[in-house]
Amino acid sequence: MKKAGTEARHYVESMRTLEFTLNGQPRSVEIRAGESLLETLRNRCGIYSTKDGCQPQGQCGCCLALIDGLPKVSCVVPAEKVAGKSVLTLEGLSEDERRLIADCFVATAGLQCGFCIPGFALQAKSLLDKNPSPTRDEIAKALAGHLCRCTGYIKIFDAIELLAAAKRGETQPVLNGDGRVGSSLARVTGQSMTLGDRPYVDDLERPGLLHGAVVLSEHPRAKVMSIDTSKAQALPGVVAIATANDVPGDRWVGLLYNDWPVFVAEGEEVRCVGDVLAAVAAVDEYTARAAAALVEVEYDILEPVLDPFAAIKNDAPQVNPRHDNTLSHTVVKRGFAEAALAASAHVVSGTWETQRIEHLYLEPESALAEPLGDSRLKLFTQGQGIFDDRRQVASVLGIEKDQLEVELVPNGGAFGGKEDMSIQAQTTLLAQMTGRPVKITLTREESIRIHPKRHPIQMQYTVGCDDEGKLTAVMADMVGDTGAYASVGSKVLERAAGHSCGPYKVPNVHVEARAVHTNNPPCGAMRGFGANQAHFAIDGALDLLAAEVGLDGWEIRWRNVVSVGDPVATGQILEKSVGIRETLEAVKEPYYEALVQGRAVGIGCGMKNSGIGNGAPEWGRARLVVESPGTSAESPGTISIYNGYTEMGQGLLTILVQCAVEVTGLPPAVFLPKVDSTFDLDCGQTTGSRATLFGGRAVQAAAEKLKADLDQGLSLADLQGRVYEGEILIDDTTAPGQETDKIKTHTSYGFATQVCILDSDGRVERFVAAHDVGRAINPALCEGQIEGSIHMGLGYALTEELPCPDGMPATFKLRDLGVLRAKDMPEVEVILVEDPEPEGPFGAKGVGEIGLVPTAAAVAGAIASFDGVRRYSLPMKDSPAAQAMSVGRIPKRRSST
Ligand code: FES
Ligand code: FES
Repeated sequence: MKKAGTEARHYVESMRTLEFTLNGQPRSVEIRAGESLLETLRNRCGIYSTKDGCQPQGQCGCCLALIDGLPKVSCVVPAEKVAGKSVLTLEGLSEDERRLIADCFVATAGLQCGFCIPGFALQAKSLLDKNPSPTRDEIAKALAGHLCRCTGYIKIFDAIELLAAAKRGETQPVLNGDGRVGSSLARVTGQSMTLGDRPYVDDLERPGLLHGAVVLSEHPRAKVMSIDTSKAQALPGVVAIATANDVPGDRWVGLLYNDWPVFVAEGEEVRCVGDVLAAVAAVDEYTARAAAALVEVEYDILEPVLDPFAAIKNDAPQVNPRHDNTLSHTVVKRGFAEAALAASAHVVSGTWETQRIEHLYLEPESALAEPLGDSRLKLFTQGQGIFDDRRQVASVLGIEKDQLEVELVPNGGAFGGKEDMSIQAQTTLLAQMTGRPVKITLTREESIRIHPKRHPIQMQYTVGCDDEGKLTAVMADMVGDTGAYASVGSKVLERAAGHSCGPYKVPNVHVEARAVHTNNPPCGAMRGFGANQAHFAIDGALDLLAAEVGLDGWEIRWRNVVSVGDPVATGQILEKSVGIRETLEAVKEPYYEALVQGRAVGIGCGMKNSGIGNGAPEWGRARLVVESPGTSAESPGTISIYNGYTEMGQGLLTILVQCAVEVTGLPPAVFLPKVDSTFDLDCGQTTGSRATLFGGRAVQAAAEKLKADLDQGLSLADLQGRVYEGEILIDDTTAPGQETDKIKTHTSYGFATQVCILDSDGRVERFVAAHDVGRAINPALCEGQIEGSIHMGLGYALTEELPCPDGMPATFKLRDLGVLRAKDMPEVEVILVEDPEPEGPFGAKGVGEIGLVPTAAAVAGAIASFDGVRRYSLPMKDSPAAQAMSVGRIPKRRSST
């Protein structure tokens, strides 16, 4: 039970004994009245394959268990209901069956962050026990209750079909163990993730562990008159309550600006409904939440500023005390756009609007902090930049950075939403205050309220072309709602401006982009980072021009895409690795085939920076440490790979192993990737599709030093204890507005073309995605990134949104939020194009984000071709394509978990 407000009532109810069979063993446990089976399994029985993705909604499938042989989401089953029954989880399967299931998922690259996968795996077992040869439709039906935010389900289907075939004795999973660049090496720790054995933060336990809960603002804007914790303090089991008064250091944190308080103090304004007012540590989570519900906050409610256009008016109240309401204003200007438009043969204009959406990674935020006994502390985080976490938490605690160790627990999805801190500081502060280990895990509702979202951006575009369809000028004005705190909002709008012309050659450009504060939930990084929004507009404009000129969508793009030697919007001249033309060629046949068949078809092109660029110095940092020599082929020794970037399902750790294998020739089993603060490897955030690019190069550099020693005839035994450094600094990019002879906005760009084909009812039937990835270090993982992105992009185009009509999200329910289910996914064909990037490791560049950059435009084009209506706003919920989806219907009245 995690719903704040009801705990106090339940708390006083008595415990009772539950007797049931768990994984074949009789169990007798003491449970609380109203406790869910998921809580019993995790908290009392030590069963961690059942994950909590949305309790008590019952809408993600992560907590699946078999009850008397029937699959049930255990978060909605009262524990008392299983009295006398038999409960089976993945832990209870035979070792042979566990291995087979795990190998099938890993062999097909059927997992990414892995958080959802134990649920899928158990559902697959249940299905195949009843139906050994299910069709794809039957599998989709069985998966209807499951959600995966990473994979796009395609490789999950593959995994289940392989498992079925293996169980029938027709084949066996084959794991790729070679590990060279270009091979689809099995994901690092993939088997244990499939089985739910590799812990996420919330799975960590410690002796004497305290559990925490936070008190969030009830209003988007109000003055906090008082915070009274006395009733909460009096609750038995409460150990400590922290408020702003307890912060020994700097209460304000932030990635770019210290403008976000970890606690809002009495006398201050709350600025959004994710603001934290207090945090409780108690003997168990239930008590912590009950106490949090007893914290009394008196507010003087103020009128919130919810519209960015109202926020930039002179008389608007200032939302964030450390900034004007206009957080940033980016101008990109080249040539003479206005005059060029006046001289153009064709000019189109329109206002395109995109929506706020929720990242909805399946693992809600969680942090665990523990004292180390020598006045130092250790933080287990799932953040996207552990050194930024360390810097900010140490500052809040008023301690030196080296007094805080930080370790990444690879997370259950992030997509940009775990760049800013969520509850790391509050958790560590409570550990400091109590001298005991403390864990805080957010509920789904709390997660949605706290972390930054994708920016809604309104974009007014005017675009011209000549009578052959060649672009002449782009003028655009963009306003993005960045919510209450800066996060990286200024960079998102900067990126939108820099990608305002897409991968098209435009000689005259005038684009202005502003990030504006409101009292809505903050917006920050999310996969695509401003590029998605801009591409929806520019590709929409291109379709309009195509109609004016009398060209089809493919042809107008072919006439305009950039090549080596051409400038992008910012004026950067592309010098290498520009594979956009090859991606267009790759989709030409399916595009024209669909047209000939009379299908509604849409096309979109995309580009996306790899690396933050825009003048920011960036690092790749790695250390290879020879830990132990090998003793046999089965025990070939251990070399740790330390790096500063985060594994969040994208497969970074596997890629880094492959970079080390490629250089050294050692087997992949030798390498053990780690992300912690043992070495000072601060690289900033895992963002901007740069971890493979820079982290891979750093590992490559360190591995080359190790290889040199190996080539001298030295063995791992000789080298034991040696540390090999790899350091890459990229500091040659150009800041916006910087005076320079040569603009280099970014180190590298990925390129893509996607084609969306509808069926005769207007449903999305097929997607073809051709991507220039430079070099596919691991083709299966690379494909998986693109498939998962298309899944996210289809949701963005059709069903996903997070309206906040009065500053509070209108819904917290997973189905309402519109993330597509397995049965909603069309057929997806991924075509990998390799135009090597000389600045990347082995020619690779980032693929994490670009997968959904062209998607919404391709869908909009297909729908316009189907019903003749050009849509300018996302999501396109009124379209037949969206109506056919099973999710994304937000009831008029606000719902709440
Ligand atoms: S946690 Fe049970 S369905 Fe999501
Ligand atoms: S692998 Fe499914 S949510 Fe990440």
